[in-house]
Amino acid sequence: MKAERVETVAAIRARVARARGRGKTVALVPTMGALHTGHGELIRRARSEADFVVVSVFVNPIQFNSAEDFELYPRTLETDIDFCGRFGADAVFAPSAREMYPEPQLAFVEVSSLGDSFCGEFRPGHFRGVATVVAKLLNIVQPDRAYFGEKDAQQLAVIRRMVADLNLPIAIIPVATVREPDGLAMSSRNARLKPEDRAAAPLIYEALQAAARAVAEGGAPEKAKRAGMEVLARDPRFQVEYFECADPATMKIAERISGPVLILAAVWLGGVRLIDNILCGQHRSN
Ligand code: PAF
Repeated sequence: MKAERVETVAAIRARVARARGRGKTVALVPTMGALHTGHGELIRRARSEADFVVVSVFVNPIQFNSAEDFELYPRTLETDIDFCGRFGADAVFAPSAREMYPEPQLAFVEVSSLGDSFCGEFRPGHFRGVATVVAKLLNIVQPDRAYFGEKDAQQLAVIRRMVADLNLPIAIIPVATVREPDGLAMSSRNARLKPEDRAAAPLIYEALQAAARAVAEGGAPEKAKRAGMEVLARDPRFQVEYFECADPATMKIAERISGPVLILAAVWLGGVRLIDNILCGQHRSN
């Protein structure tokens, strides 16, 4: 099946209205394109849980805090449309920046506190840009359900909170991270890694697993962090932006392990920023 390419807000609203008129439920999978198997999993889930599936492909300028990162973000729209069709999407909403932002954006959605730590600290304004564009996409498509990957754990937390706090009648569905056979989390940025960096990149997941083992053994967050950092220190090319144990409810550094803990990492490798995380530790320390 070929997914239909739709470029304007009016046209995607018309497609969705037609589907709704036929009693169909609607799912949205928001993406920035350069689609890979991880996105495929989001689309596959959406396909199995809704009648009309829209994938949005939009490289959102207001969530990048570096012009260079925005320029270098891979753009592969034609391949993405074929990909969406193969995974059963009905429509690909691929608006231009002018269509999404006909005027300079003056209204923003800010999810305070949850979006201030970790990626928010190192990429100021990033989550404001994400929450704003996701709010726009949800309002444009008005789906019943929207799908997001757990690889972007903080983004998922921010979006869930936005939807709850703003009473948006949309179910946010998290989908587990899809990994390459060597453990590297799938990401559109992986394509930018030089071969030698790509070969080293699975160390990130190894580090997270080492930290998770420390948590499982009853270790404190500091011990878990040390265990992970030791793994990453094996290769001096890794520059660690952060490696922390967090409380998934607050997205603050966990002082002690007293329930689920999210181990989060952001590293630079050969000029490419990679993030990953593991949720672990139902263990309660005494
Ligand atoms: O995860 C992404 O690809 C983006 O942050 C999103 C959710 C599509 C918003 O631009």
